[in-house]
Amino acid sequence: MEDRDILKELKSLCQLDIDAVHAYNESLRHIDAPDVKKQIESFRGDHERHINELSESIRKLGDEPPKFSKDFRGYVLDAFTKVRSLTGIEGALKALRSGENMTNKRYGEARNIDFPALTKELIEKNFRDEQRHLKYIEQAIDSRVWEKAA
Ligand SMILES: [Fe+2]
Repeated sequence: MEDRDILKELKSLCQLDIDAVHAYNESLRHIDAPDVKKQIESFRGDHERHINELSESIRKLGDEPPKFSKDFRGYVLDAFTKVRSLTGIEGALKALRSGENMTNKRYGEARNIDFPALTKELIEKNFRDEQRHLKYIEQAIDSRVWEKAA
């Protein structure tokens, strides 16, 4: 696989993680239940780590990683627009779920790319984080945590 193609994928994943951090920042404004908040903050930390590690890989290949944009856009904007009628933890978790579906899909696809071994390892590790995030968020929605928090 050529460096140029590897870089294209890594930059696209890095941008996805940047968008995810924006989604988490936006969600956290609506989440006041302490235990849910703690989990969501730790997931945001995973996404920040992904950004740092992907950026490092991109620089090693001689390119510049995507800049941390100030605003959210793309799928994050869509996700939050769709749940605008919902407020509080419920709306925040449902928006995050649609974001996590996206990151799971994209990392799931990236796993099948013939990357060099170290890159493959990184993608695999990030993919497992994404699975964990989605699982928690789905369980929180299924058990209607916002009713317990109210
Ligand atoms: Fe995630």
